[in-house]
This record gives sequence, structure tokens and C-alpha cells, in this order.
Amino acid sequence: MPSCWEINIPHLTNVQDIVKRRARFRASKRKRMSVHSKPASVKPVAAPDLARLKKKGRVITMLTAYDFFTARLLDEIGIDGILVGDSANMVFYGEKSTLSITLDQMIYHTQAVSRAVKRALVIGDMPFMSYQASAEDAIRNAGRMIKEGRAGAVKLEGGEHIAPTIARLVEIGIPVMAHIGLVPQSIHQLGAFKVQGRDDPSVEYLKRSARTLEDAGCFAMVLEMIPADLAGEISRELTIPTIGIGAGPQCDGQILVTNDLLGLFEDFQPKFVRRYAHLAQEARTACRSWLEDVKNRDYPAENESFH
Ligand code: KIV
Repeated sequence: MPSCWEINIPHLTNVQDIVKRRARFRASKRKRMSVHSKPASVKPVAAPDLARLKKKGRVITMLTAYDFFTARLLDEIGIDGILVGDSANMVFYGEKSTLSITLDQMIYHTQAVSRAVKRALVIGDMPFMSYQASAEDAIRNAGRMIKEGRAGAVKLEGGEHIAPTIARLVEIGIPVMAHIGLVPQSIHQLGAFKVQGRDDPSVEYLKRSARTLEDAGCFAMVLEMIPADLAGEISRELTIPTIGIGAGPQCDGQILVTNDLLGLFEDFQPKFVRRYAHLAQEARTACRSWLEDVKNRDYPAENESFH
């Protein structure tokens, strides 16, 4: 970053002007730097706060983010949690599933998000095969998500079989959000992104998993694409909050993929997604206008040029 002394300012003629200019430069530098620091007045959301919100009956809000600027605007609107989801592999990298994203990529995105956030709880999603092989893998890799990604918690997909791993992570002080129902990391076994908990064995498995995972110590649980009444039943039975996505209105909180909500991801629209904007269309319109202006030599204009 250049200092004010390196900028050529021909109209500065006296010392007072120079002093004023330096003061303005320092103030704007302080403002730029404040983006990276957390003022003492903001109380960050911690994992245990979410159970307190459930107890009070206050709905919990979470969205996904993968970059600094999205995270900053979500934090500014007062969101409770930001999930750096492995959905990044689909909506950011254009892959057909979440499977191929690496732990290093997830840590990189989590760092960018954590840098922007002053209040929300940042949850780093543990990617496929970063925790399934052994509890040791899970501990080492979740540890990296906390140390390098600066996340306040991690998320692991899976039912009752993952409970012992979650218990080990919680034991060493890493807060874990569980994720049951449609678990996209098992897409090859499930066959399609479809609603879970439609038959008795599946309902029983989800209810049993929810209880076992709560006992293992997770602080919250994502319920993805399950019938609304089943989600309500699970939510009422658990003390920890459920965060629904395609799981109806009876969950304790809601989460969506931000790119879906903003209309940035247009490849497909699941039934549960409500689009609050059509940013992809707007971006196309804006970029097309620029293209036309350049072709017609309307951009840049005189007042957009240096002389
Ligand atoms: O990766 C993700 O974005 C998620 C949410 C859909 C819950 O897991």
C-alpha cells in the first residue's frame, strides 16, 4: 500500500495542507484496518449460545458463505451462524457433487470467511474423507479447521455411526454440528438428492441417530430434506437446536445456501429454495451493458480517464 508521501499531489502547496492530508490518510487506513479487527462491543456467537436461543424460542438463522465479502454482509445483517459448506464444490467450483473438495480448499475458504466475521459463529464443514477413516483423522483435520481456518466449530455428516468420532472431538474441545437426513457426501449410496425419512426403517434410523448424536455432545444438528412433521418431532425431542434445510418450519433454525437464495446458482432449484433475488440475471445485464459500452466506445468517458 503506498504511503501518502509516495502519491504525487501537485496542488499541495503548504505544510498545513500536507498535515491535513496525512491525518485523512491515517483515518482512512484505520477504517480499512478495522475490517479485520473485532471491536470489543460485539459479542461473538459461541456454539453453546444456540441452545440458549432454542430455550428462549428465538429462531436461529444460518447461511453459507465461501468468501470474505459475502461473509461480511451476512455478519452485518446479524446472522447467527455462517457455514462454510462443502456445497462450495458445487456452487463455487462447478462440480456435480460435494465429494472432491479437499480439506486445504475448505480451510482456505474458512479463513476468508473468518477474517470478515465479527459476530456470527463460523462453522467449517469437514469434507468427504477428512473424518470418516478414523477418529485420529477427524481430530487432526478438525484441529486444522479450527487452528488454520479460525472456525468456531466444525460440521460432520452422518448418523449414529459417527457419534463416537463426534464424542472424541467434543472431548478435546471442538464444538461439532451434526448433519442427518440427506447427507450429500453419501450421494453414491443414496443414488440421488432426494427426501429421506419416508419409510419406517428410515424414520427410526433418523430418530435414533438424532438422539445418539445429541448424547455424543454435538451442539446443533442440521436436518436436510426430511418431512416437516418428522423434523418437528426430532426438534421437540432434542435439547440442542435443529437447523433445517428442506425440513419445514418446525425446526429451531433455518439454513440455506446463499447462492440459491440470491439466485446466483441457476443450474437447478430444489423445492425448498426461495429465491429472494436474481443476481445472476442482474450480473449478466450489468456485464452486457459494459460490453456494449466498450464496443460503442462509450466507456471509459472523459471523466473516467486521468489527465
Ligand atoms: O454444504 C452445505 O452447504 C451444507 C448445507 C446445505 C447445510 O451442508
